[in-house]
Amino acid sequence: MADYEVRASIVGLQRRLEFPELNLDAVALNSERLSLGDRTRELKVGIAALDDEARVAPGVQRAQNGVVEDALHEQVELERADRDKGEHCCAHALLLRPAPMGYTLCVLACGTMGIAVLSGVIESLDAVRPNTATKWESHSPGTLTPTGPPDASIPTRFVACVAREESATKLRAVFGALGPLGASVEVLASRNLEAVQKADVVLLCCKPQLAHAILGEPGIKDALDGKLLISILAGVTMAQMNAWVLPSTKVIRAMPNTPCKIREGMTVVSTLPISPSTDVDRAIILKIFSSIGRCRFLDEKHFDACTALSGSGPAFACIFLEAMADGGVMMGLPRAEALELAAQTLQGTARMVLQGGAHPAQIKDAVTTPGGCTIAGLLAMEDGRVRSTIARAIQVATERASELGQPTKK
Ligand SMILES: NC(=O)c1ccc[n+]([C@@H]2O[C@H](COP(=O)([O-])OP(=O)(O)OC[C@H]3O[C@@H](n4cnc5c(N)ncnc54)[C@H](OP(=O)(O)O)[C@@H]3O)[C@@H](O)[C@H]2O)c1
Repeated sequence: MADYEVRASIVGLQRRLEFPELNLDAVALNSERLSLGDRTRELKVGIAALDDEARVAPGVQRAQNGVVEDALHEQVELERADRDKGEHCCAHALLLRPAPMGYTLCVLACGTMGIAVLSGVIESLDAVRPNTATKWESHSPGTLTPTGPPDASIPTRFVACVAREESATKLRAVFGALGPLGASVEVLASRNLEAVQKADVVLLCCKPQLAHAILGEPGIKDALDGKLLISILAGVTMAQMNAWVLPSTKVIRAMPNTPCKIREGMTVVSTLPISPSTDVDRAIILKIFSSIGRCRFLDEKHFDACTALSGSGPAFACIFLEAMADGGVMMGLPRAEALELAAQTLQGTARMVLQGGAHPAQIKDAVTTPGGCTIAGLLAMEDGRVRSTIARAIQVATERASELGQPTKK
C-alpha cells in the first residue's frame, strides 16, 4: 500500500467494521449512507467496484461497466471475524491515487521575478511525468514535480496580483500561453487584499521599498494570519518583515536569480524556524524553487553575500563572457560564433563542477599543458589580477546589498 491511500471503501455488510489499517477517508455502509466529505468523485470510483446488486446512493453515479476512470488503483478484499458477536464481515476497498489536495499560491506584485517564478512552477507542473524520481536538489533544468500520492506541498490554484490593469492584461497573455494550468491563474489588479485572502502561501515580489506599504494595506495583516509569506526582496530582513505582520505569519526570505526565467535559477532560502508545520513548509518552498532551478537553505546572515554572488552573479558572469567573446573577435572570430563558444564553454565548465563534482582547480590543471597556450593565458589573467578583482566585486556587492531595503543614512 506504499504508493496508495484509501479514499473510499464499500463495506459489504450492514454494520461497519473497523479496518484500521486502511485509514479510511470515506465509507459507504452498504452503499446507502455515505460519509464522504468533499471526495465525491473518488467515491464514484469506489462505487464502481461494487458488484451489480449494490445500490448506489442518490447523487452518486456508477461508472460504466465498473471501469474505473484513472486505472490508478488496486482492489483489496479484507475479512474480519467479530468472534464475540459471531459475525463475519468483509470489505472491498479501492486503493486510489487521490486527487491532489494542493494549496493556493499567490504571487503578490507579479513583475519580472514573479512571472519567472510562477511560470517555472506552472511549467514544471505541466511537465509532470509518471515515475519521475522525487529528488529535489539534483536536477537540470528545474526538477519536475512528481505525480503520485496527494501532496499538500504542490500548488494547485494560482493568483497573481499587480498594480495596474494594463499589467494584468499582459500577465493573462503570458500565463495563458503556458497552457491550461497557466490560463487558470487568476490575475488581479490593485486587489491585493482579495489575492492574499484567497491564498495559503504568499510570494511577495514587489520592489523592496514598497513592501512596508503593501503589507500595511488595510486587512492584509489579518489576511496573512497563520500563512506562509515568502519574500524575495533584496535587502529587506526577516526582522523588518516580522515587524510588519502578525506573529502568527510565517515569514521566510528567498533570494532567486534571473536564470529562474529559464528554470536554471539558483535560489537561497532562509532556514525555517521550528514549528509544527516546518516539514510541509519546507516541502512547499523546495517545490516552488526547485521547479525553477536549484534551491539551498542557508542562515539569513549569509543573505547579503548570496544576493551578491548568485543574485548579481549573472551580471558578473556576463562581463566575463563578453570579455572572452571580445578576445575571440579580436583574433578574427565572427561575433556570433565567439559569443556561442564563450557561453557554451562557461556552461559546460560550470556543469562539470555541479554535475561531475570536479574542483575548478582540477579542471584548470587538466587543460594546462606545460609550456602550452592555456598557461600563457592564465598568467596573463593573473597579471590582470582577475581573481582578486572578481572576489572583491562580490565583497563590494555584498556590502552594498546590506544597505538595500534599509532606511537611508543621513
Ligand atoms: N531581478 C533579480 O534578479 C532579482 C533577484 C532576486 C530578487 N529580486 C527582487 O525581486 C523583487 C521584484 O523585482 P522585479 O524585477 O520583478 O520588479 P518589477 O518587474 O518591477 O515588478 C514589480 C511588480 O510589482 C507590482 N506592484 C507595484 N506596486 C504594487 C502594489 N502596490 N500592489 C501590487 N503590486 C504592485 C508591479 O505591478 P505593475 O506592473 O502593475 O506596476 C510589478 O508587477 C525586488 O524586490 C528584487 O529585490 C530580484
